[in-house]
Amino acid sequence: MKVMPIVGVRPQIIKSAPILRLLREDREIELQFIHTGQHYDFEMSKIFFNELDLPHPLRNLGVGSGSHARQTASMLLKIEGVILDLKPDVVIVFGDSNTTLAGALAAIKMQVSVCHVEAGLRSYDKSMPEEVNRILVDRCSQVLFAPTQSAVRNLKGEGMNMETVILSGDTMYDALLQHKDDIDDSKILKKMNLREETYLVFTAHRAENVDNPERLKKIITSLMRLENSKIVFPVHPRTGKRLEELNLKETLTKASNVILTDPLGYFDMLKLMKNSRVVLTDSGGMQKEAFLLHVPLYYA
Ligand code: UD1
Repeated sequence: MKVMPIVGVRPQIIKSAPILRLLREDREIELQFIHTGQHYDFEMSKIFFNELDLPHPLRNLGVGSGSHARQTASMLLKIEGVILDLKPDVVIVFGDSNTTLAGALAAIKMQVSVCHVEAGLRSYDKSMPEEVNRILVDRCSQVLFAPTQSAVRNLKGEGMNMETVILSGDTMYDALLQHKDDIDDSKILKKMNLREETYLVFTAHRAENVDNPERLKKIITSLMRLENSKIVFPVHPRTGKRLEELNLKETLTKASNVILTDPLGYFDMLKLMKNSRVVLTDSGGMQKEAFLLHVPLYYA
């Protein structure tokens, strides 16, 4: 059987790792691992491949950044070409990014079965691009791997054929459990001169938060008010560009309580979160990880 997992963005690389490990061990499976190249910076992609010991993708489609239409259309065209060429029996897509949508849509239109890992999650807010992607991908999928009972309930509520829904658990949790020792071994606290539970971790990358200048300014102003707390802020490339446009990067760099860094690798990020006092984020993945690590979290 030819199986084609498709990833493109940072959290998908993490979500796919435990599945790729199993697929690689199965001699009856020909693995056709594809990276769309939606994320291309070292800190956003390659470092995760190295840390999680993932196979080199068979193809990297190099789509890069762009508007939603341009990025998704470019992926659709390129994934169609790869499917024509490699003729997979099954395509596996993960989560809710534009890569997920393009993979599912290209496959279903070519009569290739689609498996969706992380099916059934909903925010019920269609102004989020991810929510639109989730709904459409679930509609395109022949097998829906739901991470939680509530995801199963959502799919049932939407009238999905429940024979196609499998309560599979969460592969992000699997990744965390499989790499517990690597996370504990990270030297990031020493490197940043931090002591356990004396700092907060802050991240923001969602378009709703960072592409709206007024909102981003408010978020950063609120952050600066927490002057009695040390705050570690790994900056997503999208956020970094917006902060520079608004001249906020310099302000943050000068703030004595804020430590700005480039995006961190998986082990360092999880170690930082695990030992923090609180996590403040708009990332769905970090929300889940903070819960699993028993760290208090504020989600926006
Ligand atoms: C995407 C996903 C989001 C996920 C996030 C994880 C969609 C609609 N959104 O958002 O669900 O939570 O990934 O990080 O697919 N950029 C770089 N280098 C990179 C990647 C991006 O500089 O390697 C910059 C570019 O300016 C780009 C911007 O970040 O325009 C946004 O990247 P994009 O992939 O479009 O969306 P994310 O915000 O990363």
